[in-house]
Amino acid sequence: MKALEGKVALVTGAARGIGAGIARCLAAQGARVAILDLALADAEATAATLEAPAIGLEADAADERAMAAAADRVASAFGGIDIMVNNAGGAGSDVELLAMGMPFANVTQRGWDAQLQGNLRTAYAGCKAAIPHLQARGGGAIVNIASIAGLMAMPSVPAYAAAKAGVISLTRSLALELGPSLIRVNAICPGFLWTRAWEFLATLMKQSVPEYRDMAPREIFLDAVTRNTPMGREQTPEDIGHLVAFLGSNGAANITGQEIKVDGGITLNVMR
Ligand SMILES: NC(=O)c1ccc[n+]([C@@H]2O[C@H](COP(=O)([O-])OP(=O)(O)OC[C@H]3O[C@@H](n4cnc5c(N)ncnc54)[C@H](O)[C@@H]3O)[C@@H](O)[C@H]2O)c1
Repeated sequence: MKALEGKVALVTGAARGIGAGIARCLAAQGARVAILDLALADAEATAATLEAPAIGLEADAADERAMAAAADRVASAFGGIDIMVNNAGGAGSDVELLAMGMPFANVTQRGWDAQLQGNLRTAYAGCKAAIPHLQARGGGAIVNIASIAGLMAMPSVPAYAAAKAGVISLTRSLALELGPSLIRVNAICPGFLWTRAWEFLATLMKQSVPEYRDMAPREIFLDAVTRNTPMGREQTPEDIGHLVAFLGSNGAANITGQEIKVDGGITLNVMR
């Protein structure tokens, strides 16, 4: 029997990138999966590729009413929710909304708010929507996708880093509150993955760092991986997905309130 047979998972921001990798790993372990993203067609297209029963849903993960309605839909389609994965987020692809620092004076209130909405309110709304359903099942698991940015000084993206540090703090608070309900709450801190956010960041680095001027964004990303990752290998969405699948399984029955780094050792190092 597969580890997640009989379980139902809802994954936000799962049409592509890390979220899609998480959904693939959950489905491979036998879970039925709801893929939630901003556009229904994208969510349904990814759901159709999974090897277990899956549905696509459209909602803004930062909107608590939309998330409550989405969670209700999952419960009526599959009978309940056992695993909630708050993955939606990212740094975005608009310079002002990215709220880049260095200097900090460049950060605008609009950018600051956008980062907190996209990366912290999403976790709030997802947790709030899922908790009654997890309680109705007598327990379950929440996995919040934070970032190593929430653990380190990140003067180039201070609002994103503050939001991710907030996700880690929320994870601990909810783990304590929900322990007696047998709901485990953990966070994962990924390192560097080649998704849309890094594509945009590497394009900005190409424009601003003289040594990167003649390199393609993808090469710039791989250079950052090589220089900062002791393991030296590029991370995949499945690297994150395998841990989500474990945290959602009964094998992780005594793990709660943790932030787990899946970063090839980046945080052991000094950023170079
Ligand atoms: N890529 C990395 O290097 C990296 C590192 C650490 C943490 N993370 C985190 O991993 C998560 C996934 O990022 P990714 O790199 O796969 O990004 P991505 O841009 O490739 O995918 C993000 C997905 O989430 C969806 N999304 C974004 N905001 C949403 C919202 N409010 N409601 C619903 N859907 C929404 C997007 O439409 C997209 O499909 C994010 O929380 C990000 O901060 C990424």
